[in-house]
Amino acid sequence: MRAEARPQAPFGRRPCEVADSRASGGYHIFTLIDSEGPAPAPGQFYMLAAAPEWGGEGGRPYLPRAISYARVAENLTGGLRLDFLIDEVGPGTSRLARMEPGDSCHLTGPFGSRFSLPRELNPEAAGAILVGGGIGIAPMAVLRRELVDRGIPSRSLLGFRDQAHSGGVDELFGCDSTRLAFEDGSSGHKGYVTDLLLQLLEGDDASSAAVYSCGPPAMLEAVRQICLQREIPVELALESPMACGYGACFGCAVPKADGGYLRLCIDGPVVRGEEIATAMAGEPSVG
Ligand SMILES: Cc1cc2nc3c(=O)[nH]c(=O)nc-3n(C[C@H](O)[C@H](O)[C@H](O)COP(=O)(O)OP(=O)(O)OC[C@H]3O[C@@H](n4cnc5c(N)ncnc54)[C@H](O)[C@@H]3O)c2cc1C
Ligand code: FES
Repeated sequence: MRAEARPQAPFGRRPCEVADSRASGGYHIFTLIDSEGPAPAPGQFYMLAAAPEWGGEGGRPYLPRAISYARVAENLTGGLRLDFLIDEVGPGTSRLARMEPGDSCHLTGPFGSRFSLPRELNPEAAGAILVGGGIGIAPMAVLRRELVDRGIPSRSLLGFRDQAHSGGVDELFGCDSTRLAFEDGSSGHKGYVTDLLLQLLEGDDASSAAVYSCGPPAMLEAVRQICLQREIPVELALESPMACGYGACFGCAVPKADGGYLRLCIDGPVVRGEEIATAMAGEPSVG
């Protein structure tokens, strides 16, 4: 049981104005003004659909897409400013990335579970190790911000395939306590972000570690295995295909370690490493 309650989404979808939209490396960042919703907690996500072209002649997408928030701040004239980091992988994300200031975006949320604090995850924790991969750096950025605000030390390890599949690092993280890995060696460590995690854990007392991670399924499974083998408490923010976001469609089912399934949109997306059978269940398989 996590100590702090999760913020609850207001009923129904609401239109939010796009305040800003810009490229960030190979990714895209846009800002929405949410004048009705509660402040989200690290790990939570929203269901978003760009109002322009929604359900238009192209026929897709009628369903909104699950997107984690990457930053939240109070808006000067009321409500919240929510930043989202987008990787254009298909029609939904590409329509979100094409929105311009003044456009409207359909939003529901915040949905899902929040990350625990390090001492809730491991009573002996001296701080947190955050491991983000690709677009999965967004939930790590909001968790890092919360830890900074609470005076809890953290170290961030961020991994990307190449420069074309990276973005948001300078804006969302800054330089302190952040180490980068690029598979193509274009910056930072050449290789996987899990190499950096292994290096860090070699020098650390595992009994005082608390690890958090979000990223592609293969990376999350590697992080999970590294932590389980060393008995290090770990929380993972998983992805799986989501149609509704509030528990009705069962599209997001993920197998549990002890049998049965959890619905990632309401039982997750944040889960403990030992709760699930594998982090690979949400691996997208359809083109
Ligand atoms: C809780 C949660 C939070 C998320 N947060 C973000 C976020 O902050 N930013 C962001 O850009 N995306 C995020 N996603 C992923 C995003 O919702 C999906 O990638 C979505 O399906 C994209 O819709 P689309 O119409 O653009 O592409 P689709 O038509 O759905 O997919 C197009 C292509 O991308 C592949 N694909 C689908 N899903 C994924 C995936 N998860 N990873 C890699 N390839 C995929 C498909 O196999 C297909 O080849 C999140 C997902 C979840 C469940
Ligand atoms: S997305 Fe519909 S049940 Fe989870």
